[in-house]
Amino acid sequence: MSEGKGIERGKIEKIDKIREIASEIKKSSYTTVLTGAGISAESGIPTFRGKDGLWNKYRPEELATPQAFARDPKLVWEWYAWRMKLVFSKKPNPAHEILAKLEEMGLIKSIITQNVDDLHERAGSRNVIHLHGKLRDVICSSCSYKTEAEEILDKTIPPRCPECDSFLRPGVVWFGESLPPDELNKAFSEAERSDLILVIGTSAVVQPAASIPLITKRKGGKIVEINPDSTPLTSIADISIRGKAGEVLTAVFDEIKL
Ligand code: OAD
Repeated sequence: MSEGKGIERGKIEKIDKIREIASEIKKSSYTTVLTGAGISAESGIPTFRGKDGLWNKYRPEELATPQAFARDPKLVWEWYAWRMKLVFSKKPNPAHEILAKLEEMGLIKSIITQNVDDLHERAGSRNVIHLHGKLRDVICSSCSYKTEAEEILDKTIPPRCPECDSFLRPGVVWFGESLPPDELNKAFSEAERSDLILVIGTSAVVQPAASIPLITKRKGGKIVEINPDSTPLTSIADISIRGKAGEVLTAVFDEIKL
């Protein structure tokens, strides 16, 4: 076979998969979405793994653990303040926007995200479950005080709690910490009642998030994966398409609208 014919066949296979994904979404009675850093990549927010990933440049144990915060709260805060400012300056991309439209059309019920940005909400999604917390939330490391990142970003770092004087910390889950139990339970129950889960832009290596699609599969539901690379989920996905979230979802949405 010539190279040209191989490329042609690849394109046809992709078009077929896009049609199949659109048909699965239309057929499904309850679709949930699991997203990871890859869905925000086209908004200009770096992912964690891979060539340009944050964990390629920075060491998570120095920046994203309770031990790192206890050792050097100023360093941890400087990194988070940089990420907060970066993320708050970015906008939702077509992938976020299409998921919000699909929710509005009743075609998806919820989004379970590992992302700490709020681009799903800013695109208009309502039912968003944040498994790893949010960069907009700032909490006290000792008492129940909570505030918003915008309130403290101009203040001296590391900021202190106005109620108990302990250090405030970003409201995100660090390595070695438990996930927020309410959010985790909601995510499990959404995955259980779903007959379709779209897994978009996650390397599927961080637990327990990576196991959530398996809950849907075990109950007889289907997994659709959208990612430019393969992941540990690829071999068990019912449909796995190689491509960027914005591009694939735009094509799927065009097909749904037909
Ligand atoms: P990763 O950085 O591990 O994976 C990002 C995934 O997105 C990879 O599989 C990429 O191939 C894919 N990707 C890149 N560009 C994409 C695009 N335009 N469209 C679709 N996919 C694209 O990010 P996560 O899987 O989200 O945890 O990482 C999981 C957790 O590990 C994060 O929530 C974070 C991190 O450590 C905490 O901070 C607790």
